[in-house]
Amino acid sequence: MGIRPFNEQEIQQFRAETKGTAQRLHFNNAGSSLPPDVVLDTVVNYLTEEATYGGYEIEYKYNAELNNTYALIARLINADTDEIAVVENASTAWWLAFNGIDFKAGDEIITSEMEYVTNLISFIHAKKTYGIEIKVIPNDKHGNFSLSALETAISPQTKLIAITHIASTTGGMMPIVEIGRVARKHGILYLVDACQSAGQVPVDVREVDCDMLSVTGRKYLRAPRGTGFLYVRKTVQDKLKLQFMDGFTTQWVSETDYKIRDDARRFEMYEKNRALILGLGKAVEYALNIGIDRIWQRVQYLANTLRGQLRNIEGISVHDFGDEQCGIVTFTVNGVDSAAVKAKLAEKQINVSVGLAKSTLFFMNKNHLSSVVRASVHYYNTEQEIGVLCDALRYLIS
Ligand SMILES: Cc1ncc(COP(=O)(O)O)c(C=O)c1O
Repeated sequence: MGIRPFNEQEIQQFRAETKGTAQRLHFNNAGSSLPPDVVLDTVVNYLTEEATYGGYEIEYKYNAELNNTYALIARLINADTDEIAVVENASTAWWLAFNGIDFKAGDEIITSEMEYVTNLISFIHAKKTYGIEIKVIPNDKHGNFSLSALETAISPQTKLIAITHIASTTGGMMPIVEIGRVARKHGILYLVDACQSAGQVPVDVREVDCDMLSVTGRKYLRAPRGTGFLYVRKTVQDKLKLQFMDGFTTQWVSETDYKIRDDARRFEMYEKNRALILGLGKAVEYALNIGIDRIWQRVQYLANTLRGQLRNIEGISVHDFGDEQCGIVTFTVNGVDSAAVKAKLAEKQINVSVGLAKSTLFFMNKNHLSSVVRASVHYYNTEQEIGVLCDALRYLIS
């Protein structure tokens, strides 16, 4: 049975449940989506209760709901609850996984030209600190990841394959399932940055067969800012060094020894923003209730509609590549700086963002791009909003 598309009534309901849609044409979902009102209310109510009755007392009251956030995230990515750590952003999640690996001089990391800046910085740092090697697989001439180049790059020294599923400055996607098969065949650790994909595209860690996966809350998941999570496969948890430890990290502690707890929450610290964790859980629940496959279908439809209209505007170049493209639509306007395009659109209450070269450095350098305008759609955007955005761009060029 095919995926059921949203009808107009459903779209209007999503918009009615998101107060920000009445204020702005929001095409910055890859930056931070507008949260549903229920997410905002959950956070505000929790903070109010904390301030009124006491932080520990309210944590006790909401213990089951707080734990349920882990179960909801596990459902979202088809993991087990004890494979999830909730942290404050995707960079922390990715850092905890990457820096947990016991690198030695001569170890190799394989990545793609779409890798995100935070991750690249850590690779370079590891090269300087441990003497590891970094191998970057360039996309083929059609803009697709080359699985054969990956196979060729693998050597007995390959310790890690690290892939960003969806880059922040272009709509192209990496074939994380196929890459996972190669990683498994060779018994190599596999780390996926799914920061832009969770909430937009169905992501199943069993299918991807990754060992670690990092996600942020505020983008396509529509969770509050300052939330994220890390998935670590159960059998890999003991293999990663911990970056921090406190009482929460341990199952027991004596005067001379301790035992690390038996789940992925060992990667968290005790003190955390419980209101935001509850908000993250609500956002995941909201997305699951709608259905990620339906969201993905709508996002692709809207993004392709936008790309099609942009390609018809003289003076605009679209920079998305590859066979499969997501909700991130990137383009440049001839003779107009991307920051100026963003500023002009903001005057008309249209939110877009600017993707800088450093965010996806290999890809942007290869394509001689210093910046792009990024208009990222979510399922609550409409065809009418796309029309208004394109009209505003035509006006700007004329
Ligand atoms: C692909 C990708 N990975 C990681 C990150 C970092 O996410 P965070 O800001 O939550 O640490 C971003 C942020 O834009 C991103 O686009």
